[in-house]
Amino acid sequence: MDNKPFVLANGTLLSIHDDKFILPAAERPAASKSIPIPVIDLDEKQASLIGKIRDACEGHGVFHIINHGVPKELCRKMIGAVHDFFRLPAEERSHLFTDDKTKPLRVSNFYLNGDDDKFTMWSEVLAHPWHPSDDFSHLLPRNPPHYRELAGEYAKEVGWLVTRLLRLISQALGLKKDYLQERLGDKPRLVAHANYYPPCPRPELTLGSLSHTDVIAITVLLQSEDVSALQVMQDGQWVPVDPLPGALLVNIGDQIEVMSNGKYKSVHHRVVTNKDLDRASIAMFYGPNMDSMIGPIDELLDEEHPPIYRTYCFREFMEEFLRQESTVWRVKEAFRLNH
Ligand code: OGA
Ligand code: NI
Repeated sequence: MDNKPFVLANGTLLSIHDDKFILPAAERPAASKSIPIPVIDLDEKQASLIGKIRDACEGHGVFHIINHGVPKELCRKMIGAVHDFFRLPAEERSHLFTDDKTKPLRVSNFYLNGDDDKFTMWSEVLAHPWHPSDDFSHLLPRNPPHYRELAGEYAKEVGWLVTRLLRLISQALGLKKDYLQERLGDKPRLVAHANYYPPCPRPELTLGSLSHTDVIAITVLLQSEDVSALQVMQDGQWVPVDPLPGALLVNIGDQIEVMSNGKYKSVHHRVVTNKDLDRASIAMFYGPNMDSMIGPIDELLDEEHPPIYRTYCFREFMEEFLRQESTVWRVKEAFRLNH
């Protein structure tokens, strides 16, 4: 597509001359420094692998994985299908457009509500459910036709991968391997976000995605290999996460931070825009059942480590998330206990 005008699914032309896309000065992306993000080889021997997962979850909250088992060709085709979807004319996406974030299948935008104005992020998202063992193809767009088939295949692979990651993370916390998956529940909330970031002539004035943490338990992200745009907060600084060809990126979400009683970090991240190239990503979110009770795990608590979050029903957390949408992003803080 590069540099052709991009029309959002709601009919608005994405334009640097339209104030609603220009962020207030305090929100604009500033320069960042490079700190390496861990790269974890899932083929490594179990004992050292668990140690590396522990260090990455405690120190970074984000890590690349290689030898993850999801076929490279499938990853390449999946990211291609996301590009293809957003390169269709806006009319092909407009029937799915809604700002109602509770709709399971939708195309929508992200916003920042300022005191007087509302700013739109330089991106669009296709959100849909995914489940490795259900046929959810009827919930996916018909066009481009290969999106349905690829998303089904990709979901199966990511489903196995997430089970494996949750086992490793449970063991890294010193728990039995099925602990986290059992605790999250047998009907996890599985949402995919296929994100699209058109090129932007003035990247210093916009963001593709505002700083946020992922509200679920864990995210597996696949991103275009030719654009560096994702940034993560590390030690108070924004750090770019350059794509690593063939790797997937794992983000620890709020629910694992809460269950680990703050030991494992749910990392703040955001997406900057690129002057020349469009970029796609697909985030596969794995969350608890809506009615699962989530709180610090008893086995991790003692006198020196009292709970720092209260136990809540995940539905409550999502309600708080929707209340805070487009404003501050301090969802988990609302569940913090004051000592
Ligand atoms: C997300 C997200 C990052 C990206 O969908 O929650 O953070 O690189 N995406 O698109
Ligand atoms: Ni995210």
